[in-house]
Amino acid sequence: MSLQPVGQFPAYRPRRLRQNAALRRLVSETQLNVSQLVLPLFVRSGRKVRKPINAMPGVFQLSPDELVREAARAHALGVPTVLLFGIPDVKDAKASGAYARNGIVQQAVRRLKKELPELLVITDVCLCEYMSHGHCGIVHADQHGGKILNDPSLKLLARTAVSHAEAGADLVAPSDMMDGRVRAIRAELDRIGFTDTPIMSYAAKFASAFYGPFREAAESTPKFGDRRSYQMDAANANEALREVALDIAEGADIVMVKPALAYLDIIHRVKTEFGYPTAAYAVSAEYSMVKAAAANGWIDERAVTLESLLAMRRAGADILITYAAADVAKWLREK
Ligand code: PBG
Repeated sequence: MSLQPVGQFPAYRPRRLRQNAALRRLVSETQLNVSQLVLPLFVRSGRKVRKPINAMPGVFQLSPDELVREAARAHALGVPTVLLFGIPDVKDAKASGAYARNGIVQQAVRRLKKELPELLVITDVCLCEYMSHGHCGIVHADQHGGKILNDPSLKLLARTAVSHAEAGADLVAPSDMMDGRVRAIRAELDRIGFTDTPIMSYAAKFASAFYGPFREAAESTPKFGDRRSYQMDAANANEALREVALDIAEGADIVMVKPALAYLDIIHRVKTEFGYPTAAYAVSAEYSMVKAAAANGWIDERAVTLESLLAMRRAGADILITYAAADVAKWLREK
């Protein structure tokens, strides 16, 4: 790309193209479109349940009936895709609820696909919400407070993904960050016959303080320790590329960077390096911070949200996962 030399004749005057909205639109390099939006939703058992998440105004744990209503509302506004998280009634040390045939996510997927067949349903594949200890993998029995076992966890993750596909999930999205899980999930999906179910992998998922409010929403706070032995160190960008390369080699169809706003450099490098469909996950605290500042009248919620998502697009994201998806869809219509 050649930059116009400055100070030569004829002088390049950038403001020429900023004179009115039509001109600005004409030369706009990046677009936000409703088709890019994914709305994360939390489902729990019950009927007519809308349990608010304290730190995430406007976000709820929903019973399946309310989930369908919420998804239908977003879908009517143009949001094409949801990402499902489940909160089971009971947790144990092998995350049984994650792959139960009639688990909460499996039930929810069946309902959504029956009542809203056009809606694209992605399921988050992880064990932390279903584990009594809140970790994303199996914990070594003798080493409580210690080791999260990698390879034994893969079987459970693959089982979980297959159970989601059997319920009708359109895509599965592993978020656990165990090594080799994309390969394990792809192999098991293929073995059962779900060769056409794509995998969106949380490929570069960082151990982040920005997940705080989510753990209240998903009731998945680790009971001991933290996730630093499996999620990435915030200091590392080259390693993120290696993580993404591995997931692609193992069969990922879409790769994700998470969180989004504080990791735009990673999004940019991943998109530039691999050219794969790339998703950015604007995580819970990104949402909470905007909500809190807006509630105080300190920022313009709509303008800040749209500008942040545009920045993710500019960095290279094709897919935008955001708790504000329904509002964004509405705002894009009004624009
Ligand atoms: C589960 C999972 C987490 C998020 C998505 N999937 C939490 C975590 O890793 O602790 C975070 C999402 C958010 O903060 O919005 N592994």
